[in-house]
Amino acid sequence: MPGLRSSEKKLGQLSGIFRDAQAFRGMDPDTIVYRVWWWEPVPGGTEGGLFWGLTEIQPGSVGDEYYMTHGHRHAVLDRAEFYGTTVGEGMLVLRDESGRSWFEAMKPGSLHYISGRVAHRVVNTGDVPLRFVACWPSDAGHDYQIAGGKGFGARVLRQNGKPSFTLTEE
Ligand code: PA5
Ligand code: NI
Repeated sequence: MPGLRSSEKKLGQLSGIFRDAQAFRGMDPDTIVYRVWWWEPVPGGTEGGLFWGLTEIQPGSVGDEYYMTHGHRHAVLDRAEFYGTTVGEGMLVLRDESGRSWFEAMKPGSLHYISGRVAHRVVNTGDVPLRFVACWPSDAGHDYQIAGGKGFGARVLRQNGKPSFTLTEE
């Protein structure tokens, strides 16, 4: 089908995202953390069009921090997005322009509306691949600048064997 695309994100491409730099250095940079398949039925930048995608994040962690997507805001800031979880368990980490960070639990059937201007990242807190679908405007674009270091102001860490949403001051 025209406009069908896919990409994979390896650990080595996620440098600076995870908190534990020492644990990160000890891991194989070729490890695949997540894959995205998406459909661009119209050219990127088209006003009024939609894109549709599926993301699959592997289970795993860097130190005590679960595998997650890089995270982004939309380049055209006021563009919103839907996520819907199909398989697995996770957390959608969100951060608005005022610096407030929060999360929504992801499980099969959970739907998530991400307002424009809100940065978003997904964390796989389960033992199986986490899969979610997404639908976003074809002129939204991606701005990855927010995601490094303190960008989200929060991390999802394994504490006593369970996921814990932790606000950070890094
Ligand atoms: O459009 C989206 O928000 C998703 O399709 C993401 O791009 C996907 O989950 C991968 O995340 P990221 O773009 O932060 O690497
Ligand atoms: Ni997005």
